[in-house]
Amino acid sequence: MVHNMIPAGRVTGKRVLVTGAARGMGRSHALRLAEQGADLILVDICRCIPEIEYPLSAPEDLTETARLVEKRNRRAVCKIVDVRDADALKAAVDEAVSELGGLDAAVANAGVLTAGTWDTTTSEHWRTVVDTNLIGTWNTCAAAIPHLIERGGSLVNISSAAAIKGTPLHIPYTAAKLGVVGLSKALANELAAQNIRVNTVHPTGVPTGMAPASLFALLTETRPDLAPLFGNALPVPMVEALDISNAVLYLISDEARYVTGLEFKVDAGVTLT
Ligand SMILES: NC(=O)c1ccc[n+]([C@@H]2O[C@H](COP(=O)([O-])OP(=O)(O)OC[C@H]3O[C@@H](n4cnc5c(N)ncnc54)[C@H](O)[C@@H]3O)[C@@H](O)[C@H]2O)c1
Repeated sequence: MVHNMIPAGRVTGKRVLVTGAARGMGRSHALRLAEQGADLILVDICRCIPEIEYPLSAPEDLTETARLVEKRNRRAVCKIVDVRDADALKAAVDEAVSELGGLDAAVANAGVLTAGTWDTTTSEHWRTVVDTNLIGTWNTCAAAIPHLIERGGSLVNISSAAAIKGTPLHIPYTAAKLGVVGLSKALANELAAQNIRVNTVHPTGVPTGMAPASLFALLTETRPDLAPLFGNALPVPMVEALDISNAVLYLISDEARYVTGLEFKVDAGVTLT
């Protein structure tokens, strides 16, 4: 067995579900966790959503994440599924968990972003963003919890610095990400007795495929007065996906065994002012 040749990692033997795992930060979380000994369940929609102006992932992206996990000598089970579809997600997670023999943690990372001033924000924006970023996060927790309830575990829900800052020009996104905090804290209380920890992570800007062109136009042409709100305190315009993955790794590891209900900012100080 290859397992015996791998030095002990910080999450060795843990089985972790990551949504939005095909690219961007989801891929980075999966690889950081694999490096430290975890096996992965990789979920992604792998198609575009018409309401979202930038392309989402393709099936090849998810296959590539799996290949990179396997290159680190860990197992990867891929499921192409939309986190908005609770039943399909539950079925996919149940199947993948039985393949891996259990589940120890989940990272609800899948998310989308629409942009607009308050008066150009539509109910379609609201529904798409809340459906994926808030209800999708809930669906991910709900699919994972039955597998964690016996032995405890860690749920990491990806929010945003935007939730703490009140970042404008994408109000449904900011609201949904703050909703993720409420969901997570309530779950943290409800599941503490079962040793299930629930925390949120709040990244500042990270260069990924989540880049709606209209947001840049809004910041440069329509409301440049709001641009300073996007500036970090530390002298760095954006941070790297790995900086966020390190927070995720910590929260999943036993180093964080008594950490729950935390809003873990990795935000280069953007929320300080
Ligand atoms: N990039 C940033 O600056 C930033 C900052 C703060 C928080 N975040 C959050 O980090 C998370 C990861 O974002 P990213 O920057 O890597 O973006 P990304 O667009 O590169 O990756 C998101 C992934 O989620 C998948 N996805 C989208 N909707 C889905 C659905 N309904 N079901 C399943 N999969 C779906 C996409 O296909 C994609 O692979 C998101 O929750 C995002 O809101 C991003």
